[in-house]
Amino acid sequence: YMSPCQNLNGANKTMTTEFILLGFSGGQGVQILLLLLFLAIYMLTIGGNLLIILLIVSDHHLHTPMYYFLGNLSCLETFYSSVILPRMLYSLLTGDRSISLIGCITQFYIFGILVTTECFLLAAMSFDRYLAICKPLHYTNYMSDRLCIQLTVGSWLGGSLAITITISFMSQLVFCGMNEIDHFFCDFGPVINLSCSNTRIIGTLVFIMSSLCAFPPFLLTWASYVCIIISVLRVPSISGRQKAFSTCSSHLVVVTVFYGTLIIVYVVPKANSLRELNKVFSLLYTILTPLVNPLVYSLKNKDVQEALKKIPTKLAFLAGFRNTQL
Ligand SMILES: *[C@@H]1O[C@H](CO)[C@@H](O)[C@H](O)[C@H]1NC(C)=O
Repeated sequence: YMSPCQNLNGANKTMTTEFILLGFSGGQGVQILLLLLFLAIYMLTIGGNLLIILLIVSDHHLHTPMYYFLGNLSCLETFYSSVILPRMLYSLLTGDRSISLIGCITQFYIFGILVTTECFLLAAMSFDRYLAICKPLHYTNYMSDRLCIQLTVGSWLGGSLAITITISFMSQLVFCGMNEIDHFFCDFGPVINLSCSNTRIIGTLVFIMSSLCAFPPFLLTWASYVCIIISVLRVPSISGRQKAFSTCSSHLVVVTVFYGTLIIVYVVPKANSLRELNKVFSLLYTILTPLVNPLVYSLKNKDVQEALKKIPTKLAFLAGFRNTQL
């Protein structure tokens, strides 16, 4: 196998120091439409997730493992969409699509840590729900504050470790020749395609890493929800069953779309015809997940809605407090 640069002699080799992120094709009109669409999505994502973090931190009714997980998830997703969307909005606004090699690798590094952590965190959250619903009598024994902290910290550390190993291999690659990335952010596959080093080892490594980081959490998540659904079926009241089902099914749709698209993009070998489709799949896990997760997991939740309702009272109290002080 000869990569493009191996044919050239050393003197002719030009090292790539800058990439062009092609983003989405389409004329000026399409670009403006995308700009407005992504801007709206970004503001909603940040607003929704920050609101949840504020609620969870400020309301002591929400100081339980489940909400600590949700708080961490919202925190993660605030960063997650901030790694990708502002850069993309800037390109759409100014037409400047270049990104330095270091910038590109950094973007993949941070994104990779966050996406892997999210895989683990979603699994931890479904395990927590499994314990709460299927082992209600022992829930507080099993899900102690200690285990909750271990699972959250473990998710963050696991994600960081997996991507740091990948990056240490990636940093040894040489990039030369073509520098156009046919994607909207510096994702692993499209970047690695431009390297003129041998990428077989790192390709295998990422295949193994992404299989390990995506399949087990995915299976654990599904297993948890299957157990939950089975135990919900035993609930005598129809309305109770319906309520539990609607919660479970919305969680399941979200995690299946998230893990499913990740597995398709990172694990399944790619045919060229899948390129454009890959961009669409990437949109689902990079941009849609952080937007819908707060809705599906938190804002539909009764305790969170209660906490939301208390905000005006709290603000009024604060205002009154300040007035009496003056
Ligand atoms: C994240 O999880 C840790 C450990 O469980 C918890 O102490 C912290 O409050 C959580 N963060 C948020 C924003 O909920």
